[in-house]
Amino acid sequence: MTDERPIGMFDSGFGGLTVARAVIDLLPFEHLVYVGDTGRYPYGPRPLDEVRGFARQIASHLLERYDVKVLIVACNTASAAALDELQDELPVPVLGVIEPGVRAMVQATRNNRVGVIGTVGTIGSGAYQKAVESTAASVELTCAACPGFVEFVERGETGSEQVHVLAQRLLAPVIDAQVDTLLLGCTHYPFLARTITDVVGRDVVLVSSADETAFELLSMLQWSDLARAHGHGLGEHRFLSSGEVGWFRDLGRRLLGPELADVEPVSWS
Ligand code: DGL
Repeated sequence: MTDERPIGMFDSGFGGLTVARAVIDLLPFEHLVYVGDTGRYPYGPRPLDEVRGFARQIASHLLERYDVKVLIVACNTASAAALDELQDELPVPVLGVIEPGVRAMVQATRNNRVGVIGTVGTIGSGAYQKAVESTAASVELTCAACPGFVEFVERGETGSEQVHVLAQRLLAPVIDAQVDTLLLGCTHYPFLARTITDVVGRDVVLVSSADETAFELLSMLQWSDLARAHGHGLGEHRFLSSGEVGWFRDLGRRLLGPELADVEPVSWS
C-alpha cells in the first residue's frame, strides 16, 4: 500500500517551517506542500473569525489544487481559531499544534509550574488553558502573550538587541511564576529560542510543538494506511507564499535549510 498524495501544511508565514523541518526529518519519504500566508501575516492580532476564514480558504486550496491527504495547521493562532471546524468540515484528517505541545510540556515539568507564550489571538482564545485542563495534569499554568515577536522573525531579526529588550518585558510574568518549562505556543518562536533562553535562564526547558506534532503525524499515517512507500524515493517539497516570493525563498532557506529551494506564488482572489 502506498499513498502518493502530499501532506498539506500552512502557517501565516515562516513559523510553520519549524514544523516542516521536523516532518521532513521524521518522514523523509513523504511529499509536502507548505503555504506561508505572508501576504496576510501576522495572524496573532486579528479577530479569530477572520483567521478562521483564512484557514478555510488555504485548506480548500490545498485540497482542491494539491489533493493533500492530511492537513497540518502549523500555526497556533489558526489552530486556536479553526481546528475544530476544519476537523468537522474537511474530508481528510487535520492535525493542529496545540495538543501535541501541551502533552510534551506536562511531561517535561518537574516543579509543575509551566508557562505558555503565544500570540494575542492564541492566548486570548483560552485554547491552551482548555488543553492543559483536559490533560488533568496538576500543573500551575501561566500564559503570556508576546505581541511583536512574530514581526521580528518575519524580518529575519532573531537575535537583535531590540528583540532582547522586548523579551525581557514580555517574559516577566513567566519568570515571576518560576516556571521550569516554557512552551513556545507560536510556531515562529523556536527561531527566537536563543533570546528567550537568555532571558528566562538555561534552567527553564523550552518546549516546541514541532517534534511532537511530527510524531503524531507519523503514528496517524501508520494506523490509517496513508503513508507513502519508502521504496518510492525521497519526498518532494513545495513551498508557496502569498507575499513576496524572493523574500520567502531567501529567509525561508536560512530558517528551514536547503530543502526550501524554490517558492511559488499563491493568491486568494
Ligand atoms: N506561527 C503563528 C502561530 O503559531 C504566528 C501567528 C501570527 O502570524 O501572528 O501562532
